[in-house]
Amino acid sequence: MKGRLLFGVLLSQEVMHFLILGPRQLLMAKTHPKTLSGSVDALESNVESVRAADTAYTVDNAADYDAKRTIEPRDKRIHNFERDILLSALKNVSKDAKVLEVGCGTGRLLSEGLEAGYQVDGVDASGPMLEHLKAKLTEEQRRHVNLIVAEAADIPKPDASYDFAYTIRLLNQTESPEYALTVVDEIARLVKTGGYFLIEFVNEARPRIGTARRPTTRLRPSEVARRGEAAGGEVITYIGAYWLSMQAYKKCPNPLLGLLSTTDRVLSKLLPRSCARSYVFFRKTGSAE
Ligand SMILES: C[S@@+](CC[C@H](N)C(=O)[O-])C[C@H]1O[C@@H](n2cnc3c(N)ncnc32)[C@H](O)[C@@H]1O
Repeated sequence: MKGRLLFGVLLSQEVMHFLILGPRQLLMAKTHPKTLSGSVDALESNVESVRAADTAYTVDNAADYDAKRTIEPRDKRIHNFERDILLSALKNVSKDAKVLEVGCGTGRLLSEGLEAGYQVDGVDASGPMLEHLKAKLTEEQRRHVNLIVAEAADIPKPDASYDFAYTIRLLNQTESPEYALTVVDEIARLVKTGGYFLIEFVNEARPRIGTARRPTTRLRPSEVARRGEAAGGEVITYIGAYWLSMQAYKKCPNPLLGLLSTTDRVLSKLLPRSCARSYVFFRKTGSAE
């Protein structure tokens, strides 16, 4: 009975995706980017000398990254969904906590943390993305925010440097699930005992028809949970986003966006493990399994 119910739910999800997206987008090819080559440096010291990873964004990506995610109302809805998840998790620490975003790019979310009053540092393998972020900071913020050009899997900071660390929209861009899980280790390493870490990824456990158009590294919530636990974390909660898929926002007419977004948030809350994007939220207990 339970099995039939679950099957029914998953089937209706796929049917909805099919109706919303159409067949074309559900039949797409998947490839992986090349292997990473690591290199780290401080943004302030010499951006030009940094050899970014193969998956790091280029100068061209950096130039239009913000515009693509903030001008259209649908992109704003997507942004706000992720911002709300982040700010709600951040409520677990005080405003003077040290926070780190790994794979922060131009600071789409890092800036939200700053605006909410947190001290947020950023790591990214792309100098150009961090240059854009730096240009957005006020003089005062520049004095407090550290921006580091580095590999997500090899961050030049001592253990337990932060009270809260997170990554959003990075792991799916990395070269492989193995690399992505190494980033989970690295994030856990940087968090103090008693601190928190939030890991976002594209959900391999979500039922889907066809394959992705772009290279996408996917992980299962259960494997992220196991990896974080092995690194000294305890799962506080699983969070989901885009049960109706991000493409649904792209296809939705503007007047219906509010309804779509509300429905999606409710469904994502009810069924976090079958959302397109997953988050595992950990507290660092320090007792690695
Ligand atoms: C899609 S953007 C996300 C940026 C930001 N987190 C956001 O949500 O807007 C992915 C970022 O990850 C960075 N990146 C890709 N591979 C990386 C790696 N191996 N180490 C560190 N950063 C990486 C890219 O340069 C890019 O800025």
